[in-house]
Amino acid sequence: MCGIVGYVGEKQAAPILLEGLSKLEYRGYDSAGIAVFGTDGITVSKARGRLSVLSEKTEDGKAVPGVMGIGHTRWATHGKPSDVNSHPHISSSGRFAVVHNGIIENYISLKKKLQAKGVEFVSETDTEVIAHLFEYYYNGDMIETMIKVIHRIEGSYALGVLCADNPEEFIAVRKSSPMIVGLGEGENFIASDVTAILKHTRTIHYLEDDEIVVLSKDCVKVYNIDKEEIKKDVFTVNWDVSAAEKGGYEHFMMKEIEEQPKALRDTISPRIKDGKVVLDQFSMSDDDLKKLKKIHIVACGSAYHVGVVGKYVIEKLCRIPVEVEVASEFRYHDPIIDADTLTIVISQSGETADTLAALKEAKQRGSRILSIVNVVGSAIANASDDVIYTWAGPEIAVATTKAYSTQMAVIYLIALYFADKLDRIEKTEYNKILSEIESLPDKVSEILSQKEDVQYFASQFYNSKSIFFIGRNLDYAVALEGSLKLKEISYIHSEAYAAGELKHGTISLIEEGTLVVSLATGTELYEKTISNVKEVKARGAVVLGITTTEHEHTEDVCDHVVKVPATHPVLLPSLAVIPLQLFGYYVASLKGCDIDKPRNLAKSVTVE
Ligand code: F6R
Repeated sequence: MCGIVGYVGEKQAAPILLEGLSKLEYRGYDSAGIAVFGTDGITVSKARGRLSVLSEKTEDGKAVPGVMGIGHTRWATHGKPSDVNSHPHISSSGRFAVVHNGIIENYISLKKKLQAKGVEFVSETDTEVIAHLFEYYYNGDMIETMIKVIHRIEGSYALGVLCADNPEEFIAVRKSSPMIVGLGEGENFIASDVTAILKHTRTIHYLEDDEIVVLSKDCVKVYNIDKEEIKKDVFTVNWDVSAAEKGGYEHFMMKEIEEQPKALRDTISPRIKDGKVVLDQFSMSDDDLKKLKKIHIVACGSAYHVGVVGKYVIEKLCRIPVEVEVASEFRYHDPIIDADTLTIVISQSGETADTLAALKEAKQRGSRILSIVNVVGSAIANASDDVIYTWAGPEIAVATTKAYSTQMAVIYLIALYFADKLDRIEKTEYNKILSEIESLPDKVSEILSQKEDVQYFASQFYNSKSIFFIGRNLDYAVALEGSLKLKEISYIHSEAYAAGELKHGTISLIEEGTLVVSLATGTELYEKTISNVKEVKARGAVVLGITTTEHEHTEDVCDHVVKVPATHPVLLPSLAVIPLQLFGYYVASLKGCDIDKPRNLAKSVTVE
């Protein structure tokens, strides 16, 4: 959600800002704007709609002179998408231009106070108060003014601020909203994430909450809230520029689906040494692990679906009770958590506001936090006791695929590691699962090599009004993900049900020709799911069965069957999800949907 880019250097700023913003489009937005410091002071250009509208308005930025500026893509929260509500916002005198990600929770009371002092507001946004507060508190010192402003505002923010009195430097800060600083030669940057500046530099600072950064072309200085300069570590980003490019694919989503074997290999291989799972990043002692009474898994959306898999797998292998919950609910029901509880937090972006808030709640109640995160140095990673990174590389398509798959691989590694430490698993079983984990990348490749089969099936059903996904146990967990993948990118109504639950109400929705995708990969519950398939077929459903090569007779009951290779039962979700990702993709593609940027959605959901 929302993206920020800032630049100061010797080159023309506007084209760099627009190009940087284009790399942040995937985060989700509905309007865009830039403010550039030129010979006539600060020029603001903004426009509702896609970035291309702003690019056209500014001749790809060439019409806006100046070598320092800030840019923003807005995902509307306070006030509809419109030119006037777009960022940057300027103070009444025009001295300050502000871009903001996040939400100012006390903006109404601040707005009233400023209005009482005669300040006129032009937009409906919460951000505009920040521009006016800068004007109100300005004493000629930008750092002191920033400190005063952040003492007054409550909520989450990443801010970039230009001041017309200062043609050579600009200032930025963040709290609970991401921002990194890019260090170049004779040029420096701020950005919501590295993809925006990867073309220019890989050398970065991660900013902590309430760290203030002042950037000029040759210098970057970071201060704390007491105006003391602080020394920041410098990180080098090892992502390849091409990782954030489409590389010949029509959509990032298909590229990322195809990247899954590599992403899985990169995530799994470094954690297996001499026939053992090695979790260097997990510092909990074996004694503390043995004292664990319960595990909570909290996450949102697809990451939550990984948690559902995690519950089945960890309980099965480790015999520890696991509760899995969507993060937006978790913190509001007084969860029962103490020091003998481990909370596993799962997030691709490491920024999701609900997940971060749940993490803080669990931590405050004494739980240790282990997070599974894709973005290094993100807020969730920083707030955790231990982090196991998924090495999926940048995920640009809004609908997650490779991050989901790598999160699941990490869950398997954690389950196996815990089961071993707790002496709950036989050596032969341990070895069997480990060797199957290692072969997942090849098996995923094998499924991908037959993707035309799924494409053909999608071509028969892309006009469906409603599609149901059913499965039991782990197959149910995968059904949840298959249904979400389909509906979020194709806009076809879809629901996932535990196969045995359908007859308790939902089966009344099945009619002649309704498509039901049935997952029956495991052997233990295979026959039971097949009985449920027969129930829906008897009511006219057309059934796509997802099963493994071990089940030879699925064709006798289902209308169409996609088979994935056999593996250890707990690992089946990693394989079963691949045809479902492909199905969602092909259906959306045939319907002509905007696959990488589905309507109303954002990649990083930084509001609650
Ligand atoms: C669905 C999807 C979302 C995310 C969810 C959590 O395809 O991508 O449901 O899984 O918004 O995001 P992260 O993992 O960044 O916390």
